[in-house]
Amino acid sequence: DIAFINGRFVPWEDATVPIEDRGFQFGDGVYEVIRTYRGMPFELDAHLRRLDRSAAELQLPSPYRHADWRAWIDAGIEQAGYPEAKIYLQITRGVAPRDHAFPADARPTTVMTIRELHPLPDDTRSRGVKAKTVEDLRWGRCDIKSVNLLPNVLARQDAKRAGVFEAILVKDGWVTEGSVSNVLAVRQGRIVTAPEGPRILSGVTRHVVLELARKEAFPIEERYLSLPDLYAADEVFLTGTTVEVLGVIDIDGRQIGAGVPGAITTRLAAQWAAMTA
Ligand code: PDD
Repeated sequence: DIAFINGRFVPWEDATVPIEDRGFQFGDGVYEVIRTYRGMPFELDAHLRRLDRSAAELQLPSPYRHADWRAWIDAGIEQAGYPEAKIYLQITRGVAPRDHAFPADARPTTVMTIRELHPLPDDTRSRGVKAKTVEDLRWGRCDIKSVNLLPNVLARQDAKRAGVFEAILVKDGWVTEGSVSNVLAVRQGRIVTAPEGPRILSGVTRHVVLELARKEAFPIEERYLSLPDLYAADEVFLTGTTVEVLGVIDIDGRQIGAGVPGAITTRLAAQWAAMTA
């Protein structure tokens, strides 16, 4: 495994951050998760743009240029040598005596890890996964990919305890997204998914999948789905760096569609697989 702190690769055992780092004490930081396909980081520019945007929204100076990140990521992937890798980038506001307001002179802490990616088993993909709904307790800026993930952590644990794959978050009766993924449904031949905005993360995978759907001439509606509409959907699927395109066949014990990944889900998953092969 590869670790990197503040511009340098360091041995994994030495990859530590001081206890007064604001990421540790306040969750005052932002992150990205990127995966490789055949050793190449997928949609790296989109992830780096989102990292910059998240940082800017928190008035956090982004310490490196994209060219720097690209060079380090390439070097790290090569050094790691995994068939497929998961790249984690994080920038926090740095180390300073604990005080909620921004420190005057802290330097951002930047870390990267590169670890082996274990893809979901093929039979899980072909069968589809179960999910449960969980109240969306998050703040009003879910478009910022901040390391404050407590509501996501609790929701995901709730799903795990229930023996299902994903927690689908519901805010005031409306489906927002998953704890680690975006949620899309198919109703009357149309793909329906929550609009970009402060209630969801603008997923890189979501964006690419919607482009694929446009190419296939599948109609798309970016609007919120109510919980009854979610249950009544013909298909539901998740998108995300780690889940790719993943069919949901059961939500809260209610069967979705025919109880197998639907035709549009299967088509988009196949397109995804072809694009990343
Ligand atoms: N999460 N929504 C949330 C809340 C997420 O955390 C993620 C990704 C997504 C999908 O975004 P993308 O397609 O850009 O990966 C949507 C990453 C993988 C994580 O936190 O591990």
